[in-house]
Formats: sequence, C-alpha cells, structure tokens
Amino acid sequence: MFRGDVHFQKGIGCAGCHGGDAATEDMDAAMSKTAGFLGVPSGDNISVMCSRCHGDGSVMKQLGSALPVDQVASLQNSVHGKSSLKGGERIAQCTICHGAHGVFSVTDKRSRVHPLHVVSTCGSCHSNASYMRSYNPSLPVDQAEKYRASTHGELNGKGDAKAATCVSCHGSHEVLPASDVRSSVYATNLPGTCSVCHSDPVYMGGYSIPTDQYGLFAASVHGVALMEKHDLAAPACNDCHGNHAATPPGVESISKVCGTCHAINAELFTASRHKRAFDDLGLPECETCHGNHGILNATNDLLGVNADAACVRCHEEGEALGGFAFAKTIRFLVDSLDTAYARSIRLVEEAEQKGMEVTEPRFRLRDVRQARFQARTIIHSFEEDTCRAVLSDGIRTAGTVAESARSAIDEYYFRRAGLGFATLVITILGISLYSYIRRLERRQQQAPRSDPGSRA
Ligand code: HEC
Ligand code: HEC
Ligand code: HEC
Ligand code: HEC
Ligand code: HEC
Ligand code: HEC
Ligand code: HEC
Ligand code: HEC
Ligand code: HEC
Ligand code: HEC
Repeated sequence: MFRGDVHFQKGIGCAGCHGGDAATEDMDAAMSKTAGFLGVPSGDNISVMCSRCHGDGSVMKQLGSALPVDQVASLQNSVHGKSSLKGGERIAQCTICHGAHGVFSVTDKRSRVHPLHVVSTCGSCHSNASYMRSYNPSLPVDQAEKYRASTHGELNGKGDAKAATCVSCHGSHEVLPASDVRSSVYATNLPGTCSVCHSDPVYMGGYSIPTDQYGLFAASVHGVALMEKHDLAAPACNDCHGNHAATPPGVESISKVCGTCHAINAELFTASRHKRAFDDLGLPECETCHGNHGILNATNDLLGVNADAACVRCHEEGEALGGFAFAKTIRFLVDSLDTAYARSIRLVEEAEQKGMEVTEPRFRLRDVRQARFQARTIIHSFEEDTCRAVLSDGIRTAGTVAESARSAIDEYYFRRAGLGFATLVITILGISLYSYIRRLERRQQQAPRSDPGSRA
C-alpha cells in the first residue's frame, strides 16, 4: 500500500510517522523508545501523529510543501472533533477518511476523499444506522441514499466529479451541525454555498443550465426576507429542492413545494380549473404566474387584461374560456377595494386630527385590510362568485367606515360653526355692555357736583 503513497513519493519513510531509527539494521535498536519509536498509534494519537507535520507550517515548508496546515484545528472544532473535547476520543481521526498507508493526494482518483469516492467514505458511518444511533439517535441515516437519487448523485455515479458531493456542501475538516449558524448549510448561508458552483459560468460551462439562480433569488421577496431580514420562515434553495435529493421539482409538484408554506393558495389552486389545465399543457403550476427564483411581491398588475398581466398570456377578449372576463371584473373590484380602503383611511385620519372620537371606525378598518389580504389569496380559486363575495364585502365595509368618519368630520364643522356663532353673540353682548357702561359713566360726569358739606 505504501508504494504509491504520497508520503513515500515525497521521500517520507516509515519512521516519518512511526518514529524510530530507520538507518539501523538492528530491529530492537530501530524500534527503541530512545530512538523516538512511537509504535502503532490508536485513538486521538493517530491525529497527533499526523499533526506533527500537518499542524506545523515550518515542518511542512522544510519538506517542500505549501499545503494549508489547518486540518487538525478544523477537525477539532468540527462536529466530528467535538466529542474528544467532552473527554472521549474524536469520532473521526485523519485515517478514517484518508487511510494510513495508502494516502494519496486528494485530486488522485485513488484517494478515498476524491469526489468520486468521498460519498462512500462519509456514508460508511452516516448510512450505518446502528453505529449512528450510538452517537446521535435523532440523526437520519438516509443522506447517501437520497443523494444517489439526486441530479448531483446520478452524475457523480456516472463519473462526473464536478457535481456537488457531501464535501461541497458541508466542508471536509470543518463540518458543523446543520443547526449551527456558522454551518455552510445553515439556511442563511446555504444560497452562497450552492452559488459557488451554480453562479460560476466557467465551472458550469459544460452544462446546459443557466447560472442566474442565485442572482435572481437574492433579489426576490424570498431572498431578501431570508438573507437581509434573516427571516427563517422564507425558503432557502433546499426548501424547494430538498437537502440531499436536489432535483428541480417536476412541473406537476411545484404547488406542493410552494404549498408547504403557502398552504391556502395551493389548496385553492389545486381545486381550481387551472390545475388540470396547466398539468395538461405541461406548464409549471405557481411558477407560470410567479416565476421560481425571482419571485417578487405580487401586485394588482399581475391580474387583469393589461399587457403586463399574467392572464393575457392565455386569455383573450371574446374567448370561450371565461378567464378574460373574470380578469377584467375582478381587477376592477380589487382596484375599487384599494381605492375605498385608501379613502377610508384618509377620512379616519382627518377626523382623528380634528380631535373627534373614531375608535369604532378605526377598529373596522382592520376588517377592510383583512378583506384585501383575503381577496389576494382567494383569487387562486379563479371562481367569480367566491372572489366577488369577499371583494364586495370589503368595499361595503370600507364605505361604512368612510361614512362614519365623514359624519364625525361634519360634526366637527357643525360644532365649530356653533362655537363661532356663540363667540359672535358674546362679542356683540360684550361690546354693547361696554358702551352701556361708558354711557353711564359719561352721564355721571355730566351731572352737577354735589355740595361737599352734604356728606356729613
Ligand atoms: C503517514 C504516516 C504513516 C506512515 C508513513 C507509515 N505508517 Fe504505519 N501506521 C500509521 C498509522 C496512523 C497506523 C495506525 C493504524 C491505522 O490507523 O490504520 C499505522 C499502523 C502500522 C502498523 C500496524 C498494522 C496496521 O497496518 O495497522 C504497521 C505494522 C505499520 N504501520 C508499519 C508501517 C511501515 C512498515 C511503514 C513504512 C513502509 C509505515 N507503517 C509507514 C501511519 C503511518
Ligand atoms: C513527516 C511529516 C508528515 C507526517 C507525519 C504526515 N504527513 Fe501527510 N504529507 C506530508 C507531506 C510533506 C505531504 C506532501 C505535501 C505536498 O504534496 O505538498 C503530505 C501529503 C499528505 C496528503 C495529500 C495532500 C494533497 O492532497 O496533496 C494527505 C491526505 C496526508 N498527507 C495525510 C496525512 C495523514 C492522514 C497523516 C497521519 C496518518 C500524515 N499525512 C502524516 C507530510 C507528513
Ligand atoms: C471526515 C473526513 C476527513 C477527516 C477526518 C480528515 N480529512 Fe483531510 N480531507 C478530507 C477531504 C474530503 C479532503 C478534500 C477537501 C476538498 O476536496 O476540498 C481533505 C483534504 C486534506 C488535505 C489536502 C489539503 C486540504 O486541506 O484540502 C490534507 C493535507 C488533509 N486532508 C489532511 C488531514 C489531516 C492531517 C487530518 C487529521 C487531522 C484529516 N485530513 C482529517 C476529509 C477528511
Ligand atoms: C467515523 C464515522 C464518520 C465519518 C467517516 C463521517 N461522519 Fe459525519 N458524523 C458522524 C457522527 C457520529 C456524527 C454525529 C455527531 C453528534 O451529533 O454528536 C456526525 C455528524 C455529522 C454532521 C452533523 C449533523 C447534524 O446536523 O447534527 C454532518 C453534516 C456530517 N457528519 C457530515 C459528514 C461528512 C460530509 C462526512 C464525509 C466527509 C462525514 N460526516 C464523515 C460520524 C462520521
Ligand atoms: C447539495 C448540498 C448537499 C449535499 C451534496 C449533501 N448535503 Fe447533507 N445537508 C445539506 C443540507 C441543506 C442539509 C440540511 C440543513 C438544514 O437542516 O437546514 C443537510 C443535512 C445533513 C445532515 C444532518 C441530518 C439531516 O439529514 O438533515 C447530515 C448528517 C448530512 N447532511 C450529511 C451528508 C452526507 C453524508 C452527504 C453525502 C452523502 C451529504 N450530506 C450531502 C446539503 C447537502
Ligand atoms: C460542486 C459544485 C456544486 C454545488 C456546490 C452545488 N451544485 Fe447543483 N449541480 C452542479 C452540477 C455540475 C450540476 C449538473 C448540471 C446539469 O444538471 O446539467 C448540478 C445540478 C443541479 C440541479 C439539477 C439541474 C437540472 O435541471 O438538471 C439542481 C436542482 C441543483 N444542482 C441544485 C443545487 C442546490 C440547491 C445546491 C446547494 C444546496 C447545489 N446544487 C450545489 C454542481 C453543484
Ligand atoms: C421558491 C422555490 C425555489 C427556491 C427558493 C429555489 N429554487 Fe431552484 N428551482 C425552483 C423551481 C420551481 C425550478 C424550475 C422547475 C421547472 O420549471 O422545471 C427550479 C430550477 C432550478 C435549477 C435548474 C435550472 C434552472 O434554473 O431552471 C437549478 C440549478 C436551481 N433551481 C438551483 C437553485 C439554487 C442554487 C437556489 C438557491 C440560490 C434555488 N434553486 C432556489 C424552485 C426554487
Ligand atoms: C419555506 C417557506 C416558503 C416556500 C417553500 C415558499 N415561500 Fe413564498 N414566501 C414565504 C415567506 C415567509 C414570504 C414573505 C416574505 C416577506 O415578505 O418577508 C413569501 C412571499 C411570497 C410571495 C409574495 C407575497 C406578497 O405578499 O406579495 C409570493 C408571490 C410567493 N411567496 C410565492 C411563492 C411560490 C410561487 C413558491 C413556490 C415556487 C413559494 N412562494 C415558496 C415562504 C415560502
Ligand atoms: C394564474 C396565475 C396565478 C397562479 C397560477 C398562481 N398565482 Fe398567486 N397570485 C396571482 C395573482 C393575480 C395574485 C394577486 C395579485 C394582487 O392583486 O395583489 C397572486 C397573489 C399571490 C400571493 C400574495 C397574496 C397572498 O396570498 O399572500 C401569494 C403568496 C401567491 N400568489 C402564491 C401562489 C402560489 C403558492 C401558487 C401556486 C399554488 C400561485 N400563487 C399560483 C396569480 C397566480
Ligand atoms: C398558462 C395559461 C393561462 C394563464 C396564464 C391563465 N389562465 Fe386562466 N385558464 C387557462 C385555461 C387553459 C383555462 C380553462 C380551464 C378549463 O376550463 O379546464 C382557464 C380557465 C380560467 C378560468 C375559469 C373560467 C370558468 O369558466 O370557470 C378563470 C376564471 C381564469 N382562467 C382566470 C385567469 C386569470 C384571472 C388569470 C391571470 C391571473 C389566468 N386565468 C391566467 C389558462 C391560463
């Protein structure tokens, strides 16, 4: 095994790892403790043996190597190294993945960690249920099996070393639990991990798929929520493609993928006439109207008969399908509800600014807002009566709210007019009183002065 070994190629002999004196013919002298003989290492001592060179940059430099020397430290901090910190031995020593005597460069096809072999190396533990149970009974053991059925796994099985392997997604020495925020597969980091390959036009050059998934996703409503707002309710790549079974969802199952989160939309769509029609036409369900990686906030413009509405791609004036008429009517009602909502807010706010009591209308505004949300969802039923009911209800409520606010405002003006009148009356009264007093005073001044003696 040692013949083709990378260490042998570099002139490192048995003593390079096992210690001892390789120069002597005498077996006892060669393998004596005084000559530094280490014997056969076990447990953590195996990694200690390798780290004498691989953990020391100056030794590696002396041996003419520019390889990184972070493997030992990374392994210690990884999920595979943590158990040694708790007092036991590390789960995985260097030799578990690289071997001891048949060590090859990782780019050599004979290496156990070469992309074409690494899946079985990781799988030797991860597919072994009884072994894994003794460490972490809650971990599934189906990763390798699922991987084999994915597009990545199928290509890998056919000898394509460029498709993702366990290591492309999880790392090699630094593997962390998926729930660790530093992990390369943690939701907020995952899109970046996939994009290392999928956004690289040179790397993906030999394949016929686009390289725009990450760019579109990052700017989408989902990408912004996940990566900018750190909202873990938003999907990462794996929520739509699966963790290990990465394949594009089939056109007929997209509503199931989206439906894991948008349950009501999916339920309504599945029960609608579009479901069967889209499947028959081979069109991807939700994706036909919303897109996949670049999904944006849905606006009213998506609905209707304008050129940018989704509906006119298939429906046209005078058709027999009935979609055109629906799109026109419902868009009109949706716009009317929006206008009525905006008007009622404006009036309630005006009344409030004037100091009027509008607790009740303000409370009912919530019902209008609720109707707006509901209407945007209920559209997916594509049934006129159902949509009309919700929309008309909302418009009616908005009307009542606006009316109450309007009468509060009228009352304000009425009171103000009343106050003005009262002020006028009081002012006139005040002026009259003032001039009356003045007249009295003047009359007193004009009267003849009385005799001072009469005081007594
Ligand atoms: C890169 C380091 C390294 C080199 C070089 C190396 N060994 Fe080993 N050897 C090990 C390790 C580590 C073990 C422990 C067993 C294991 O983990 O597979 C081992 C185990 C052994 C054993 C115990 C039986 C076995 O195979 O497990 C013998 C004997 C042995 N080595 C002899 C040799 C001889 C002879 C050479 C030179 C031709 C050599 N080793 C070169 C690392 C090395
Ligand atoms: C005496 C120092 C020394 C020891 C001890 C040692 N190595 Fe190495 N190792 C080297 C050198 C030098 C190279 C060649 C590096 C190069 O080509 O740049 C190498 C190469 C490797 C490579 C191939 C890296 C690549 O892809 O080019 C692997 C894997 C490796 N060693 C693993 C081990 C393991 C596992 C152990 C312990 C069982 C071990 N080494 C012990 C010095 C050592
Ligand atoms: C869990 C499996 C696993 C263990 C344990 C492991 N390695 Fe590796 N190692 C790999 C994989 C996989 C690669 C290839 C990385 C790649 O393709 O990016 C690799 C690459 C290497 C390389 C090539 C340079 C590099 O960093 O890519 C060296 C050297 C190496 N390992 C040494 C070690 C040493 C020393 C240990 C023990 C401290 C060790 N490895 C433990 C899986 C492992
Ligand atoms: C020696 C057996 C062994 C090998 C080989 C091995 N692992 Fe593990 N791995 C384990 C065990 C055991 C755990 C569970 C540790 C725990 O939860 O305490 C684990 C945990 C993990 C986890 C964390 C799971 C989680 O979310 O908690 C990932 C990811 C992982 N391994 C990936 C890999 C990859 C990738 C490889 C191959 C490069 C690999 N493992 C090779 C035994 C192994
Ligand atoms: C295309 C990327 C990718 C590949 C390839 C991949 N994984 Fe994963 N892995 C993930 C993602 C994503 C998760 C889940 C993260 C989460 O739960 O949020 C995961 C989770 C895990 C877990 C935690 C338990 C679980 O199943 O959820 C283990 C263990 C694991 N992977 C091992 C492996 C092994 C072994 C391989 C190779 C057979 C592999 N992975 C290949 C992306 C990948
Ligand atoms: C190591 C590079 C690499 C990484 C990392 C990677 N992939 Fe891939 N992926 C590929 C290659 C190469 C293909 C094959 C392209 C083809 O199908 O023609 C592929 C194919 C796919 C396909 C099938 C495309 C199709 O229509 O055939 C999907 C889906 C996919 N990857 C999703 C992901 C996801 C999600 C992630 C991250 C969790 C990821 N990939 C990580 C290299 C990678
Ligand atoms: C909201 C769900 C969703 C998310 C998130 C998602 N995808 Fe997709 N992806 C899809 C759908 C749907 C398709 C197309 C399926 C079809 O039309 O056949 C697809 C197709 C693909 C393909 C095949 C080639 C192509 O572009 O059509 C690749 C590769 C891919 N996605 C990778 C990714 C990567 C990488 C990420 C993360 C940056 C990601 N996806 C995020 C749903 C999603
Ligand atoms: C993992 C859960 C999840 C999956 C899977 C998912 N989404 Fe979303 N989606 C969300 C969340 C959370 C938001 C809200 C993001 C925000 O605005 O902060 C959202 C927002 C949206 C919006 C914008 C809503 C608005 O108010 O305008 C649309 C449209 C949408 N998603 C469509 C889809 C489609 C189509 C799919 C399938 C291809 C899908 N989603 C898959 C969670 C998911
Ligand atoms: C025929 C086109 C079409 C299809 C197919 C479609 N939608 Fe919509 N979607 C719309 C329209 C139109 C709106 C409402 C836009 C507005 O008025 O704001 C909308 C709004 C939404 C919203 C935002 C409102 C809300 O409910 O929160 C989400 C999320 C959404 N759709 C998800 C989906 C999902 C998931 C699917 C697949 C099950 C799907 N859509 C299929 C046209 C469609
Ligand atoms: C990809 C093509 C396509 C798009 C885009 C599309 N439709 Fe349709 N729609 C159809 C087909 C095909 C039918 C006939 C289904 C049937 O009767 O089996 C249909 C039927 C309908 C119906 C049912 C009419 C009835 O008689 O019950 C309504 C309503 C409808 N569409 C509204 C819309 C609206 C609104 C939009 C835009 C948000 C839209 N459609 C976008 C293809 C499409």
